[in-house]
Amino acid sequence: MGGAIVVGLLKSNFVAAADIFVSDRKESILEEMKGRGVNIAGSNKDAAEKADVIIVAVKPYHIENVLQEIKPELANEKILISIVAGVGIDELGTMAGEKIPIFRVMPNTAIALQESLTCISGNGNTEPHKDYVFEMFNKLGKIVEIPEELMAAATVLSSCGIAYALRYIRAAMQGGIEIGFGAEMAQFITAQTVKGATELVLQTGHHPEREIDKVTTPRGVTITGLNEMEHKGFSSSLIQGVLASYKKIDKSGK
Ligand SMILES: NC(=O)c1ccc[n+]([C@@H]2O[C@H](COP(=O)([O-])OP(=O)(O)OC[C@H]3O[C@@H](n4cnc5c(N)ncnc54)[C@H](OP(=O)(O)O)[C@@H]3O)[C@@H](O)[C@H]2O)c1
Repeated sequence: MGGAIVVGLLKSNFVAAADIFVSDRKESILEEMKGRGVNIAGSNKDAAEKADVIIVAVKPYHIENVLQEIKPELANEKILISIVAGVGIDELGTMAGEKIPIFRVMPNTAIALQESLTCISGNGNTEPHKDYVFEMFNKLGKIVEIPEELMAAATVLSSCGIAYALRYIRAAMQGGIEIGFGAEMAQFITAQTVKGATELVLQTGHHPEREIDKVTTPRGVTITGLNEMEHKGFSSSLIQGVLASYKKIDKSGK
């Protein structure tokens, strides 16, 4: 995810490659980043020292170590942005040991293509920096400001949501292959169709069912397929999947 953010930032021209310092313990990732023209910092501490805005993108069980390491560099004028799932702003503040502005953001992997939906919450100190951080993530897709208590729900709907939508695409493709298309053509037709459906909702603001009504003629082909999907539990399985992911976050705290 850290790499995807770098790629999106470079594409957006929001930050010059020369102003980005990347740190990771995996040599292969650093090599790839080097190829994109950004600076490779000698350590997390070194990256934090050079940056005004620090984005931490590690698994939840690594965040404490990373913040411990960069703690000496976290002065008041720095902004800390965490994309780490399941670690609250208060907890981050305690680990950071400084009263610095802390944003929690929850993007999804489409951030590399500047098509993320990123949910953002801030602590009491973030107000003066909101415009900058919101603009940054606006360049990487669309943003929504949410109360922090909704961050787990945002993780499911947006970050896991990418996978749910891709699974729909895969399933529809498989159906498409069975009725006559080659895999490549089925993939293109399905993906572009999903993009069209998405645009219908985003650009009109219509409820999906309003757009569905337009393509379901009485006794028609579409309603027959849709009803069969519902008999097999399509909507119900999606809702239950969302709830299962949410419960899993609740249980594991991640
Ligand atoms: N994937 C998503 O769609 C998504 C969406 C939103 C938010 N998130 C959150 O984003 C965070 C990162 O997810 P990810 O999937 O990108 O994880 P990831 O693939 O594990 O990437 C984290 C990178 O940081 C490295 N790292 C770990 N500890 C380090 C340390 N002390 N110093 C330097 N580098 C260190 C890891 O190396 P090692 O592999 O050696 O540990 C790894 O290369 C997670 O907290 C996740 O919950 C993910």
